[in-house]
Amino acid sequence: MKIKEILLSACALFAMSAAVASPPVYLDESKPLEDRIEDALSRMSLKEKVSLLHAQSKFSAPGVPSLGIPELWTDDGPMGVRPEVLWDEWDQAGWTNDSCTAFPSLTCLAATWNTDMASLYGKSIGEEARYRNKSVLLGPGVNIYRTPLCGRNFEYFGEDPYLASAMAADYVRGVQSNGVAVCVKHFAANNNEANRYTTNSVVSDRALYEIYLPAFKAATVDAGAWSLMGGYNLVNGQHATYNQRLVNDILKGEWQWDGVVISDWGAVHDTKQAVEGGLDMEFGTGTDGLGTKGNQYDNYWMANNYYNGLLDGTYSEDQLNDKVRRVLRLTMRTAMNRNRPWGSINSPEHHAACRKIGEEGVVLLKNDDKTLPILKDRVRRIAVIGENAIKRMTVGGGSSSLKALYEVYPLEGLQARLGNEFDIVYERGYVGDTLTFYNNVWTKQHLDDPRTPEQLTADAVKAAKDADLVLFFGGLNKSDHQDAEGTDRLTLDLPYGQNELIETLAAVNPNIVVVNISGTGVAMPWLDKVKAVIQGWYLGNETGHAMAAILAGDVNPSGKLPYTYYASLDQCGAHKLGEYPGTPRHDPVEGDIIDMHYNDDIFVGYRFTDKNKLKPTFPFGYGLSYTTFDYGKATIDRKKGTADDTFTVSIPVTNTGDREGSEVVQLYIADLKSSLPRPVKELKGFAKVNLAPGQTETVNFTISRDALSYFDDKAHQWVVEPGKFEALVGASSADIRSKVGFEIE
Ligand code: BGC
Repeated sequence: MKIKEILLSACALFAMSAAVASPPVYLDESKPLEDRIEDALSRMSLKEKVSLLHAQSKFSAPGVPSLGIPELWTDDGPMGVRPEVLWDEWDQAGWTNDSCTAFPSLTCLAATWNTDMASLYGKSIGEEARYRNKSVLLGPGVNIYRTPLCGRNFEYFGEDPYLASAMAADYVRGVQSNGVAVCVKHFAANNNEANRYTTNSVVSDRALYEIYLPAFKAATVDAGAWSLMGGYNLVNGQHATYNQRLVNDILKGEWQWDGVVISDWGAVHDTKQAVEGGLDMEFGTGTDGLGTKGNQYDNYWMANNYYNGLLDGTYSEDQLNDKVRRVLRLTMRTAMNRNRPWGSINSPEHHAACRKIGEEGVVLLKNDDKTLPILKDRVRRIAVIGENAIKRMTVGGGSSSLKALYEVYPLEGLQARLGNEFDIVYERGYVGDTLTFYNNVWTKQHLDDPRTPEQLTADAVKAAKDADLVLFFGGLNKSDHQDAEGTDRLTLDLPYGQNELIETLAAVNPNIVVVNISGTGVAMPWLDKVKAVIQGWYLGNETGHAMAAILAGDVNPSGKLPYTYYASLDQCGAHKLGEYPGTPRHDPVEGDIIDMHYNDDIFVGYRFTDKNKLKPTFPFGYGLSYTTFDYGKATIDRKKGTADDTFTVSIPVTNTGDREGSEVVQLYIADLKSSLPRPVKELKGFAKVNLAPGQTETVNFTISRDALSYFDDKAHQWVVEPGKFEALVGASSADIRSKVGFEIE
């Protein structure tokens, strides 16, 4: 070989080894994300691009095997990581290592009014998802609590867009710090479960922008959620999952969001609408399972149909590339991120987080004669009555159903904490729901009871008579028409004759505390006849411990209601003015649908009760403590300014009781005169302060443009009108302790 040839081959060898040593751009994490995406895109065939956009199993999408781009695994969400299911079934696969920590319901998280709790929740559940190798956690749900009957209220953050936004944003940041994407759902105006596939929410732009979209914007734009799920419903005549206005114009247009829009499971009904309406990934479309007719996933709307449409020029490759880029971006942010932490599951920290969030979220609604906490000088014998003291609540309710490693029931928690000091007896009182299996997850309980209703009542009455204190654990559960996906409740009343039972028990022992376990409001016709009431939510694994800590007084309650507790459905705008549950209509394009006009418009929750001067059972933002708080005088740092100025409102708050406690101090803004109708006041700030007895702290709030503006739908812009405003500071929406005026010039 001549010298020149030898040199050339040496160079070639060197070049080859260099090529082996440096990975292609798309795999090189030191390169900018967008360069990696373009590189991967340029290496993909049309078929591979399309295959990225739809599922290959119930919860996964295939990635691009030829390029080593991994599968994308999703899982529910939002209160724990769902057990593994069979490839194409809802039923669990029967693994033995997929039990999770079940965290409290999201309504409970909202009731903490503490964004640190939202961060802790997000970080912890994200760690569990990461450990289980999930790239996308299907949650949080941020739909607004528009009616107390909605079966999924327990999965959401309550009625107020400001509170829901603040809590959702920190939940999202917490989850994604693990390299696991959230999938914020269900976009948008998806506010009931009855007729969920056919409801057409007819809603004004103003209500969308002011009430129904802010939490989505906070999650996607402010907190940078990497994916979002479209709802089953239609919005103003178009399917939400691929709604031109919602997805293309607002989410991807105005908000310039770069994440992935995922369909709800089975929410796609048409290729053209889905492709053009901004959908990026299709999941859950009905199939008959792999194997019987070939790969049914090829028959998805966004699979072969889409591919053929690309070949014949119906769809453009540019449009396809935008979707593919988004999915690649999501995959690189998660499954292809080699630097993400490993995660952990069922760690002591997660169980402690579950307990802490539960303890902070429980709301004390009534406490006459200082009945709570339970003290030894007044009580020796406690009768615990009610099914919910012994019922497993982490199983059931729809896609949020879990296989929790353990669940401490309220009765067990009480026995563990108070059993040595008090006589505790238990009576069931009623038989409600005896669910044993859900999606093949076993509750590990046999709740059948041979007694007649009369006998159950008689036994409960006897136990109540013999006791110094009755703790009634009732409320709802996770079965259909209660707190459950796919159905709404049929009434505001408690089921299984609980109203009558509570009255009967109160008649024989007025020293009765009702603990309502639910994720939504219920009617309380017996309220005057009981001494104390607690809103207990669903608290996950640590239910019994958290509940016992509150009842025993180890923890001072500090939760406040994230929604208005209506006395009757008439007090709720959706029912009083609205069309709930809708009016059936035949649409030439969509077929049989159900129109639901949102006539309550922006007047949802306290915005409606304020406007109509109604007195709900308990107002939004309400909750008691075992101590008391005094509010001083609110002051503002300037009396006049422009819309671009910031104002600081300050108020001293003092713990005037004899024990440490936390208070949620709330700031509402009232626009005293405006061209468009505005709510009497709106929540625009909150702070939770922990105070020792006698301690005073000054709480400061910053008010800027966002807190003052309303959405002018004709001009399509947020507007701050000059004129007089008031800053109202209080302990709930109906308990304003001090106000201070200011003016925008
Ligand atoms: C629910 C979603 C859920 C999905 C996957 C749907 O029926 O509406 O919230 O994430 O199923 O389980």
